[in-house]
Amino acid sequence: MGFIPEEVIQQVLDRCDIVEVVSSYVPLKKAGRNFKALSPFRHEKTPSFIVSPDKQIFHCFSSGMGGNVISFIMHMERLTFPEAVRLLADRCGVAIPQAVSGISKKDDRDDVLRQINEWAVEFYHRNLLMSREKNAVFAREYLKKRGISLENARKFQLGLALEDWDALARFLLEKKAKAELLEKAGLVIARQGKEGHYDRFRNRIMFPIFDVRGRCVAFGGRALDSGQDAKYINSPETPVYSKGAHLYGLQLSKQAIAQKDQVIVVEGYMDFAIPFSAGVDNIVASLGTALTQQQIRLIRRYTHNIVMLYDADPAGQAAMIRSLDLLIEEGMHARVAGLEQGEDPDSFVRKFGVEAFLKRVSEAKEADDFKMDFLFEKIDPSTSEGRSKIASEMLLTINRFQDENLKVEAIRKLAGRLSVIQSSMMTQQALITELSRIARQPDRQAGRVKAEEPADDQFKDVPAAERDLLRLMLVDADFIGPVQSEVTLDGFQHGGVKEVARCIFELFSQHGSFELTLLISRLERQEMINFVSGLVSSGSSVVGNKKKMYRDCVDKMKNDNMRLVRKSLLAAMEDAKARGDEQQLAKLAQEFNRLLKR
Ligand code: UTP
Ligand code: MN
Repeated sequence: MGFIPEEVIQQVLDRCDIVEVVSSYVPLKKAGRNFKALSPFRHEKTPSFIVSPDKQIFHCFSSGMGGNVISFIMHMERLTFPEAVRLLADRCGVAIPQAVSGISKKDDRDDVLRQINEWAVEFYHRNLLMSREKNAVFAREYLKKRGISLENARKFQLGLALEDWDALARFLLEKKAKAELLEKAGLVIARQGKEGHYDRFRNRIMFPIFDVRGRCVAFGGRALDSGQDAKYINSPETPVYSKGAHLYGLQLSKQAIAQKDQVIVVEGYMDFAIPFSAGVDNIVASLGTALTQQQIRLIRRYTHNIVMLYDADPAGQAAMIRSLDLLIEEGMHARVAGLEQGEDPDSFVRKFGVEAFLKRVSEAKEADDFKMDFLFEKIDPSTSEGRSKIASEMLLTINRFQDENLKVEAIRKLAGRLSVIQSSMMTQQALITELSRIARQPDRQAGRVKAEEPADDQFKDVPAAERDLLRLMLVDADFIGPVQSEVTLDGFQHGGVKEVARCIFELFSQHGSFELTLLISRLERQEMINFVSGLVSSGSSVVGNKKKMYRDCVDKMKNDNMRLVRKSLLAAMEDAKARGDEQQLAKLAQEFNRLLKR
């Protein structure tokens, strides 16, 4: 992603009102000069999320997160900085010059492909809702029977491909889309040995697949009658779609997933659609067999807690087993829920209701327990061969836990289960020895990813005077000059505060003025942004006599600094004395006395 010039960032900040942007995500209530809401980032009962229209910043006191309108979009949409700037620029009509926005030829082409998909979504959707053809009447009836209301068909943007062999192709060509690109988008197929193209999807209910940002990247089409060759056909791999890189429904459920800090993963389109329609809003479908690493990482942006709920058939169970090791390796807390033989989430919710479904979710087994049950069923534990097979299969999974306590706990459970069967065998110690052997095998460890780094709390112990002085500069630019000349950067002892102060000075000397939102967009670490937004948002911020506050802070900092200098001089003197370096000692003593007189 390319570098975006600061003038553009400044324009975006000027044009996008944070109150307006935030309120398109969460309802804001006026509270004094500010607006308040329940945190969009975490579950809470009392509102701790505030937006300041004057300062154009937000701060969430429960999660400690804050920043300007760009930071908000980064958190909300889980975007990188340039991505968030682009989204906002789009929204408020600021043009980002192509050369610098990092838009390559490929990005351009991909945008066109997504635009073509978008037209196809509208085309199919209109067919489904309005066509008077016999098949359309049948399709509407079909969806109704399967429990999809018109409202939900709209929400999922469901559509219908009718019987004509080139209806979509004609529609898109009329929009002046190039035939070659329709083919690239996977929507049409070139006729063999003849001119022209025919539609890939015919006589099918269409499920558009969207990326996280809600752009259509592919389709799945379900056969309308059982005589058709494949029940589902899907878009092929295209420049904007690769199988296993997306999750069906995520664009609708991502916020609920983050808020509930949990995701339910199911297999099929309808397994998403029916529970979602019944109010289970933290759900996605994997649309394939096992979860891929890409899909897991997509989920991990929103939550670490995943409940797998695949069809209760051998294929579904096997797919879950295959997903577990990868989930554990990626640092997820994975659990597995079960349904009656032969049911899938769609049929289960229709038969037993959403409460029963949620109960199954809450009763989900821990990943290692599920695998253990699975193995004990599949492999005969009464033979020593069977037991060692179970043990080695389990150890491969256990080895992937990153947390030592989880490993120990899992070993204990495994040893317990194995020794119930026959007392001789696999002791806990033997399992641990075997585990450490596995852990040493290099190939198993390859590609392993560390769990996310814990949040740094560098700003936990900022000296009060430095904090207050920084706040003064942030809320009143008149103090920046005096701090710069009287305190200087060297006057700040705390590394993080010094870094923020450096940015303030820089910005101030470049622009001759100071803008909080621009500072925030320049700070590199989220931690710094949170600290800054927290400082200016807390309480009434700065009350009382600012000049006096300034004086107090500066004096206090000078004193503290002086004390530090003296301390290090004394240490150096001790050192010189120990070495017998009289000359050095005299020099240091002189320096020390000079300081004392000041
Ligand atoms: P299922 O065979 O379990 O279908 O496949 P389903 O979801 O229950 O479908 P309904 O209820 O009969 O409509 C699960 C998922 O596997 C993919 C689809 O994503 C499907 O939702 N699949 C299945 C295909 O891609 N092609 C197929 O032919 C079948
Ligand atoms: Mn089904």
